[in-house]
Amino acid sequence: ELRARVATALVALAEGDQSAAEFAAMVLPSQEAKFGDYQANCAMPLGKRLGKPPREVAAAIVDKLRITDLCETPEIAGPGFINLKLKDAFVADKLKAASPDVDRLGVAAVASPRTFVLDYSSPNVAKPMHVGHIRSTVIGDALYQVLKFVGHRTISDNHIGDWGTQFGMIIYGWKHFGDEAAFAKAPVPELTRLYRLVNTLVEYHALRDEALPAAATRVAECESRVSQLELAPTPADPAEQKKHAKRISQAEGQLADARREYRELEAKLNQLDSDSKTRALADAHPTIGQAVLAETAALHAGDATNKALWQRFLPPCLAEIDETYQRLGVTFDHALGESFYEDALAGVVEDLKLKGLAKSSDGALCVFLAGQEAPFIVQKKDGAFLYATTDLATIEYRMRQWRPDAILYVVDHRQSFHFDSLFATARLWGYDNVEFQHISFGTVLGDDGKPFKTRSGSSVGLSGLLDEAVERALAIVSANDDARPEPMLSADERQIVAERVGIGAIKYADLAHNRTSDYKFSYDKMLAMTGNTAAYMQYSYARVSSIFGKGGVDPAQLRASSATITLDHPAERALGVAILQFSEALDRVVGDYRPNYLTDYLYDLAGKYSSFFENCPVLKAETEPLRNSRLLLCDLTARTLARGLNLLGIDVVERM
Ligand code: ARG
Repeated sequence: ELRARVATALVALAEGDQSAAEFAAMVLPSQEAKFGDYQANCAMPLGKRLGKPPREVAAAIVDKLRITDLCETPEIAGPGFINLKLKDAFVADKLKAASPDVDRLGVAAVASPRTFVLDYSSPNVAKPMHVGHIRSTVIGDALYQVLKFVGHRTISDNHIGDWGTQFGMIIYGWKHFGDEAAFAKAPVPELTRLYRLVNTLVEYHALRDEALPAAATRVAECESRVSQLELAPTPADPAEQKKHAKRISQAEGQLADARREYRELEAKLNQLDSDSKTRALADAHPTIGQAVLAETAALHAGDATNKALWQRFLPPCLAEIDETYQRLGVTFDHALGESFYEDALAGVVEDLKLKGLAKSSDGALCVFLAGQEAPFIVQKKDGAFLYATTDLATIEYRMRQWRPDAILYVVDHRQSFHFDSLFATARLWGYDNVEFQHISFGTVLGDDGKPFKTRSGSSVGLSGLLDEAVERALAIVSANDDARPEPMLSADERQIVAERVGIGAIKYADLAHNRTSDYKFSYDKMLAMTGNTAAYMQYSYARVSSIFGKGGVDPAQLRASSATITLDHPAERALGVAILQFSEALDRVVGDYRPNYLTDYLYDLAGKYSSFFENCPVLKAETEPLRNSRLLLCDLTARTLARGLNLLGIDVVERM
């Protein structure tokens, strides 16, 4: 509303020039209370455009501004900042109006809803899901919930990797090392074992037969370049001499890099080699790399045996990931895996050829894209289709089926090249009227700063990760409760609280970090009872809620009553304004596809509540309009916290 009012004033000031309205975006929440609630910083850029001193422009904007119903008289500060302070009565009325709105807290639905397809989680089944897939699941689910809550049409589609090389590995593994009895007892662990085994053998050969010899060649090349340069006569000209020395040091740098790379590869191979079983198996399966590709190709070509194995392996894999989703409380509208698009791939390639987009290069079919160093390969030399082809078929399907305005892919940052190429190709292909977004996120790191792994060295199994968080949460919750003069939680309650706190901690840590940066996975940090954590937020909620029980107040009755809100104390007013800013936090999440705007907001709200609670007695408030007014603020705070956490997929508890 403030932006709209400021926009009107700006256009009037610019004598009807509509483009001046863009500066209204510079109305932002103030950083400090002494600057009011909002600050409009448009006078500086507009002054520049009009060639007038910004303070003068600020005065002119204020003169044109019609906001007496919302704000006190604006103040101009510094070089031309316009400080806006909401009227207490306006804030109080808005809060009172939001109070009975149990679900939405007065947050209006967007005026023009858009349709979003969200592609998240999307693990490759039949190989262990890792912590990056949780991050995708958690961020994707939060964006889905927020978009839906603000009134957009949302469709989630879990693009499960159920058709890739990992099945070639398992099929090969099954044929050579499969254990029928083990599979009957526990299918997924057996498949995981096969996947790991075959993967190790493939890696072994790739290292020993390809990567290491290639690295050795590079070292030799670098060595000979260095000695060539060193043997060359030193130029007489000082400038040339300098250049020569620089060339030598560059070549030496490259040599050092090549040697380091060689040593790293060698160390990796030695590690694999140290297990004599691995070495023996690798020797017994010298062409396993190609064999795995052949098994995958046979599956894709409809080979009866491989198809039957795939049909046998897939259901337990899906059941396993469903268990994780249940535990995380995440559901999807659709889960159309890669295999769903199998029959569409040839058609996609045909069409790209027909439209002159895909061209043959070294026998492969490629889309060459301006500004991209590598082409987008849609069909390999041997006729195989790729991840790229499936993703194009998926776009075609989603556009036809759901006509979205936007498709969001929540996938880690390592795939950014793939998505850049995919989106560019799709636009050339004719899908130029839809917003494609790669909602990229950083890596979850361990204490050592490397991608997070368990002690055994394998990528962390998800259920183990969740179990440990819940276990640790149980210890914390129990210790806190035992420390009370009179513990209040039963064993069952403790378990429920621990589940919510533990899972909440993992989710919140994924969400509260700026998604594009890496972050260190730390149980201690994420389960801390203070700071920007789920546990602190859940505790804040429980603390606010407990007031109603203590005071014997029924919040539903209070909301329906004629009790009004007054905002006399600064802490009270600050809390009231923060509650109203919930919808702004949601808008920021949607605007940038960043859930951390919501965690930041909730953390700030909890802080404002704390200082309100310290400064403003609630149950002990002397006189009646005040007590009810403060209780209404407590109720709004509790519901905003609960709703916000709930949009992030985190459950609250009434007592903890
Ligand atoms: N299955 C892929 C992986 O685990 C992620 C898929 C993301 N979605 C997509 N449409 N490409 O890396």
